Amino acid sequence: MAAAAAESGGRRVGFVGAGRMAEAIAHGLIQAGKVEPEHVLASAPSDRNLCRFQAMGCQTTHSNLEVLHSCPLVFFATKPHILPAVLVEVAPAVTAEHILVSVAAGVSLSTLEELLPPKARVLRVSPNLPCIVQEGAMVMARGCHAGSYEAQLLRSLLEACGQCEEVPEAQVDIHTGLSGSGVAFVCAFSEALAEGAVKMGMPSGLAHRIAAQTLLGTAKVLLQKGQHPAQLRTDVCTPGGTTIYGLHALEQGGLRAAAMSAVEAATCRARELSRK
Ligand SMILES: NC(=O)c1ccc[n+]([C@@H]2O[C@H](COP(=O)([O-])OP(=O)(O)OC[C@H]3O[C@@H](n4cnc5c(N)ncnc54)[C@H](OP(=O)(O)O)[C@@H]3O)[C@@H](O)[C@H]2O)c1
Repeated sequence: MAAAAAESGGRRVGFVGAGRMAEAIAHGLIQAGKVEPEHVLASAPSDRNLCRFQAMGCQTTHSNLEVLHSCPLVFFATKPHILPAVLVEVAPAVTAEHILVSVAAGVSLSTLEELLPPKARVLRVSPNLPCIVQEGAMVMARGCHAGSYEAQLLRSLLEACGQCEEVPEAQVDIHTGLSGSGVAFVCAFSEALAEGAVKMGMPSGLAHRIAAQTLLGTAKVLLQKGQHPAQLRTDVCTPGGTTIYGLHALEQGGLRAAAMSAVEAATCRARELSRK
């Protein structure tokens, strides 16, 4: 705990918007000792979500401006359509000391910069829900006035919540399609695998646990060995064995085309929302 406190260096981190994503990031930062709970301040209009921040030992407020006044690093985690009004509200409190990070899907860096004072240091992060178990897959892009110091600081914080890579902003909407929305696609696949097992007679609870663990284990092998999925798939496929029969059924069902279309559709929707 002492080491964690030393690493956090008394840094104060704010959250404007205290829903699922804010909680996931705050939880990861606290768990990893990047910030102490009492140095986190979250704001939201109601207590609905703030009570979970209070349970983590964080401070809470109904005033977004108070977050800006107290914290040099602020995550904006409201729904995208609410964010512009929130930025207009807090803009007068933004100083050269602030680092401002939006996690809102589809809100571009140029929109963020237009709504904030000139030279505001702004970054955009596309997170996903597994941040809550420190297994997020995130990308970030920096605005005109955020340099490598800000990017490095943010990346070192967010690594507490999973993987975080810097990308050109054009790839952020693709990440939303692949990974933000991808969590739901993977859930649909996990559910379908389990239901196949239930159909064949396995109890439901066991089938869902085994399906989820199969996804987890496969993902770990891919990441730890740095293998292409086609290689691992080939390794599992004995000629004339069970797996190739199953893969044939998946190909007949169009799994691959459906998954590609899902990412394409979600990316296009993210781009469409960005233009609104
Ligand atoms: N969830 C995901 O998987 C995911 C993935 C990628 C990106 N994101 C992005 O993360 C952001 C938050 O998503 P979420 O799922 O965490 O949403 P959420 O659970 O609905 O939380 C939204 C939060 O914003 C608060 N809020 C509403 N109006 C506000 C205002 N005027 N000022 C300050 N706070 C206000 C809400 O307050 P109350 O607590 O009072 O309701 C709530 O705490 C979104 O922009 C989304 O695009 C989410």
